[in-house]
Amino acid sequence: MELKPYGLLPLEIRHHTDMLSTIALFSSARRQGNTGQLMERIASELGIEIVDLAGLRMSCYDYHHGNRDDDFEPLMRRVLACDQIIFATPIYWYAVSPAMKVFLDRISDYLDIPELLAEGRRLRGKNAYVVCTSVCDEPSPEFMGAFLETFRYLGMYFGGVVHVNCESGFLPEVHDSAATAFARMVRDAALVTTSLGAAASTDLQVPL
Ligand SMILES: Cc1cc2nc3c(=O)[nH]c(=O)nc-3n(C[C@H](O)[C@H](O)[C@H](O)COP(=O)(O)O)c2cc1C
Repeated sequence: MELKPYGLLPLEIRHHTDMLSTIALFSSARRQGNTGQLMERIASELGIEIVDLAGLRMSCYDYHHGNRDDDFEPLMRRVLACDQIIFATPIYWYAVSPAMKVFLDRISDYLDIPELLAEGRRLRGKNAYVVCTSVCDEPSPEFMGAFLETFRYLGMYFGGVVHVNCESGFLPEVHDSAATAFARMVRDAALVTTSLGAAASTDLQVPL
């Protein structure tokens, strides 16, 4: 699979006055834990809803697509209606939480079910963000790498990440400023479009 670096295409920033529509997908083993508290602050600054993946019926990727009647496709329709997607998850063993992994895996449905392919292409050009917590000062490169490669593959633009070290738990007096700065960045974001019209440089391809 060969992907063109975004830099090769002329870019155009689409200016706007209203905040881009934004959805937050959240998944943690506990709703009110560190990541949940961080995401709550960001969502309240932005006035956006948090979708807790734990509350949805979403089964693992199925090569035979025998799970098309679960909550994944209705959720994707909501995601596709937005300009920006926030992925909020703790770092569990250098990776995303299980339900977040299921969601990311299920995006493959939109690559390999022919009738969903056109819809899946609408992921291209959306801004993608990561909200995460761990017990280290930086998110692990393995964790961030998986997100960055996924965004690149799907033709999404990486808007930024907020990560806080929750070794001593979520501390509002320490961590709120990071939440506020991140929310400001999301609120002030614009869409990037290419001279090709579509807002991304890659074609969706079926993963190997
Ligand atoms: C199963 C599990 C695996 C974890 N793996 C890591 C890890 O790989 N790196 C790290 O820095 N912290 C790791 N942690 C710590 C969590 O990332 C950290 O406590 C986080 O803030 C928990 O967020 P939560 O309250 O939303 O679950 C792990 C915690 C758990 C429960």
